[in-house]
Amino acid sequence: PRIVVLLSGSGTNLQALIDAQARAQLGGEIVAVISNRPAVLGLERAQKAGIETRTLDHTTFDSRAAFDTALMQQIDAFQPDLVVLAGFMRILTPAFTEHYLGKMLNIHPSLLPKYQGLHTHQRALEAGDDCHGVTVHFVTAELDGGPAAIQAVVAIEPDDTPESLAKRVQVQEHIIYPMAVNWFAQGRLSYRDGKAWLDAAPL
Ligand code: GRF
Repeated sequence: PRIVVLLSGSGTNLQALIDAQARAQLGGEIVAVISNRPAVLGLERAQKAGIETRTLDHTTFDSRAAFDTALMQQIDAFQPDLVVLAGFMRILTPAFTEHYLGKMLNIHPSLLPKYQGLHTHQRALEAGDDCHGVTVHFVTAELDGGPAAIQAVVAIEPDDTPESLAKRVQVQEHIIYPMAVNWFAQGRLSYRDGKAWLDAAPL
């Protein structure tokens, strides 16, 4: 299967996917990496791995719809079977999410449905939670609202800061994202009737 990765920043999750592919543990091939921000570290990581890159700067578009249309064209030129959002910090239009429904995954640093949106680590600490974590989910029109494929739980320590907690969550991100992509690539993970399915069972 052909995979296109979208990102906006440092790309540590992309790196985990690249490393899994190098170990033949991804089950698919990353054929392109597209960033909405120029000159980010994620693009450098892709180039180092010999992966094609594109930059589509959203600030040069008049509207969200115009940007999403151009982005769809760029993605579809690579004929992907799967689109992977790896720190892609853009809200997507329904036309975009509909176009890739069942074929697009995102990773979100919380135990969804808790803490959709930003500043998740800080919010978990402020709430006094004893657990936090990360979710890989199918992307639907609802921001961070699509069905989950896999979650990892991280215990919150009494002296945690948003930064220290984020670090431990990231370790888990880099484990579960390649795993979920591999399941999808093998046809084990799919989307049907608004649900994520692993093998023959709804999650
Ligand atoms: C990660 O925390 C991910 O969960 C969130 O954006 C961040 C991306 O980090 N969606 P990186 O660019 O992969 O390092």
